[in-house]
Amino acid sequence: MKMIESDILELSDKEFGKGFITRNDIEQSLKILYYEGGQLAGFCLSKILTPLELYEYLGITPDDAAEYIRAADKVGLIDTIIVAKEWQRQGIGRKLAEKSLRSMMNGANVFCSVGWKHSTTGAIPIDKMLQSMGFTRYKEIPDFWYKDSLSGRFVCAACDAAECRCSAIIYCMKY
Ligand SMILES: CC(C)(COP(=O)(O)OP(=O)(O)OC[C@H]1O[C@@H](n2cnc3c(N)ncnc32)[C@H](O)[C@@H]1OP(=O)(O)O)[C@@H](O)C(=O)NCCC(=O)NCCS
Ligand SMILES: [Zn+2]
Repeated sequence: MKMIESDILELSDKEFGKGFITRNDIEQSLKILYYEGGQLAGFCLSKILTPLELYEYLGITPDDAAEYIRAADKVGLIDTIIVAKEWQRQGIGRKLAEKSLRSMMNGANVFCSVGWKHSTTGAIPIDKMLQSMGFTRYKEIPDFWYKDSLSGRFVCAACDAAECRCSAIIYCMKY
C-alpha cells in the first residue's frame, strides 16, 4: 500500500505540481491503477459523496453543479486522472476513466469531474475524453487553485509564476 501511494505521489508531483495530491487524498479514494513494466503509467482517483460533501470537498457552491447533481443522494466524482508523459495518447486515460465510472455505478448514477484549464495555454487536457464519455461542461471557475498556491501548499506545473491562475471546468453527467 505504501509503495502504491508513493508511486501515485511521484506521478502527481511531476504532472500537476508538487503537493497537489496528498497521502490523505489517496487513502480516501477509490484507486484504479495502470502498471506497465513495473512502473505506474497512470491512475484515476474517485469517490462517492453526497452533494454536500462534494461541494465541501471541491470548495464549490451548489450553483456550480447541475440541477440533477443537487437533487441526487450520491454523486460519483472522478477526482484525478494522470497518465505519465511517455504513456499519454495511447488510450490509457480513457480506460482508467471508464473503469473508474463502472466501479462507481453501483453507488451513484450522476457524476462530476473537474477539468484543469491551463492558464498559460488555455488547454484542458481532459476535455475531449470527458465529453466523449457523456460529460458536459457545466461551469468555468477562474483562479480555482489560487488560494492553495498562495499558501504554498502546491506549486502548479502549468503556471510560470508561483501563483496559480488556472481555472477549473466543472463537468457533470447523468447516466
Ligand atoms: C489527460 C490525460 C489523463 C489523458 O490521458 P491519455 O492516456 O493521454 O488519454 P487517451 O490516450 O485515453 O486519450 C483520450 C483523449 O484525450 C485527448 N488528449 C490526450 N492528451 C491530451 C492533451 N495533452 N491535450 C489535449 N487532448 C488530449 C486525446 O485526443 C484523446 O481523444 P481521441 O482519442 O478521441 O483523440 C493525460 O494527458 C494526462 O495525464 N495529462 C496530464 C495531467 C492532467 O492534465 N490530468 C487531467 C487533469 S483534469
Ligand atoms: Zn496553474
